[in-house]
Amino acid sequence: MKLTSSIMRFAIAAGLSLVASAAASPAQHVFIPNRPQAPEPGAEATVLPAHHTVFSPTSSAKWERIESMGALPGQQLRIKQPRLCDANVTQYSGYLDTDKDHHFFFWFFEARNAPIRENAPVILWMNGGPGCSSLTSQLMELGPCRIANGGDSLSPNKYGWNDQAHIIFLDQPINVGFSYGKDVFDSITAGEDVYNFLQLFYHAFPEYSKGELHVFGESYGGHYAPATAKAIYEKNTELAEKQSKGLLSIAETQQRILPLTSVGMGNGLTDTLIQYKHYATMACDSTYDPIISKEQCDKFYRAYPGCAQHIQECYKWQNATMCRQAQDYCDEMVDPFFPRNVNQYDVRDRCMSDIECYPTMGYAEKFLNTPSVQQELGSDIESFVLCSKKVRADFALSGDWMKPYVHEIPPLLEAGIRVLVYAGDADFACNWYGNKAWTKALEWSGKDMFSAAADKTWLVNGKPAGESRTYKNFSFVRVFEAGHMVPYNQPENALDLINRWLSNKPLF
Ligand SMILES: *[C@@H]1O[C@H](CO)[C@@H](O)[C@H](O)[C@H]1NC(C)=O
Ligand SMILES: *[C@@H]1O[C@H](CO)[C@@H](O)[C@H](O)[C@H]1NC(C)=O
Ligand SMILES: *[C@@H]1O[C@H](CO)[C@@H](O)[C@H](O)[C@H]1NC(C)=O
Repeated sequence: MKLTSSIMRFAIAAGLSLVASAAASPAQHVFIPNRPQAPEPGAEATVLPAHHTVFSPTSSAKWERIESMGALPGQQLRIKQPRLCDANVTQYSGYLDTDKDHHFFFWFFEARNAPIRENAPVILWMNGGPGCSSLTSQLMELGPCRIANGGDSLSPNKYGWNDQAHIIFLDQPINVGFSYGKDVFDSITAGEDVYNFLQLFYHAFPEYSKGELHVFGESYGGHYAPATAKAIYEKNTELAEKQSKGLLSIAETQQRILPLTSVGMGNGLTDTLIQYKHYATMACDSTYDPIISKEQCDKFYRAYPGCAQHIQECYKWQNATMCRQAQDYCDEMVDPFFPRNVNQYDVRDRCMSDIECYPTMGYAEKFLNTPSVQQELGSDIESFVLCSKKVRADFALSGDWMKPYVHEIPPLLEAGIRVLVYAGDADFACNWYGNKAWTKALEWSGKDMFSAAADKTWLVNGKPAGESRTYKNFSFVRVFEAGHMVPYNQPENALDLINRWLSNKPLF
């Protein structure tokens, strides 16, 4: 396994492999929230409508509600209301439990400023890795608060993406962040779990089901977001067909057609065949200073066809053997070219390790290992790791890394689901050249028009924030002066981008 190669080591976003050091010391000055009184054990049963089954959870006292539905036998959603991060908005956290021994942690925040709460869209956010917790972005990028004081407290983030939208941070796949249970090794299986989570989420919170649903992922989330959207789209189609033929069982009538409206990928890894080539573009021909010599890049371009051939085999067979071979071959090829002292997530930075480049990650890990915080969130596990090396290794073994998740995009576009691809232009790992190149090469009915579309300047407060091209429901945005984690570097512009996207306004 090539887990030590640099691309593997980083790529994927916040694929940051932290040396998990941040064991919590009990004496931290953590913001201790006003905990609501825990309900008496068994109290849930009295507030649940008759059709809900109360499971026997391990520690029922900490949950305010436990929801289930007949259409998803063996699954339940455990819910509590934490008071952390932003006490001004309604929050929920908890777990989806499945009969496959999967336990998915989520943390939800209501929109702060939506004109009508019931109509506000829901964003489902997934970090990459594979293996990194979505709380990474919650606390560093786009959540309503950010980590402060070395992990001892939180400070408000006025650019949180819950400005106009409700947002769910989901720890997935299994064994990422606060999620735990029997392993999952590929993005497709992970996507099906997310579908079930959403069904139960909307069942438990029908008040959020009128708004649109936007599925977003960052980095390796460029795999998850299309895989999840595919699962939703296919299940929606199946449900609609059964509905129209009157074939739904009584239990099935509880299920919803999920209001999937768009899919978004930030500095994603989606089309490896094209994206691997553009490591050289970013290294030598970007708008920033070159990070390797012209000779090195020429060498890279000469070596790339070997890697491309392996990825093509993976795209063709889509099995573990071919795809793992491609990953091994290509990572070994790319690795020697990348200088060790450059931040792969931001070529403007000189630093040697994830934790050195982003000390905040260590603080976030420390914060999430604080017992009072874990108690407030309802964590079932005590040791929180921001990025799981085991999950990353398992995904590599399954060949998931190189698989063509890009193939899931065209059917979504043709079905009228909007697709946004955006990329901070200082990132190397999933750089904008590679992302733009695959969006132009994508085979769909709008290919020629998209490819010929103009790049327009996107202005925020009268200043250029990036450039965008759009044809029909497909947009690509290059974000100026941002690394791999766009809202981390450009919080105000990132909020402008997401708000325009949600309200379907032009991105220029
Ligand atoms: C909550 O509201 C108060 C009063 O409007 C404000 O001062 C505070 O900054 C808000 N907190 C957050 C996290 O936005
Ligand atoms: C993958 O496909 C190749 C080419 O058909 C085949 O040789 C190999 O045995 C397959 N591996 C698996 C695990 O299916
Ligand atoms: C975009 O998708 C919507 C459905 O979300 C569809 O009604 C519309 O026709 C599409 N727009 C274009 C320009 O294709």
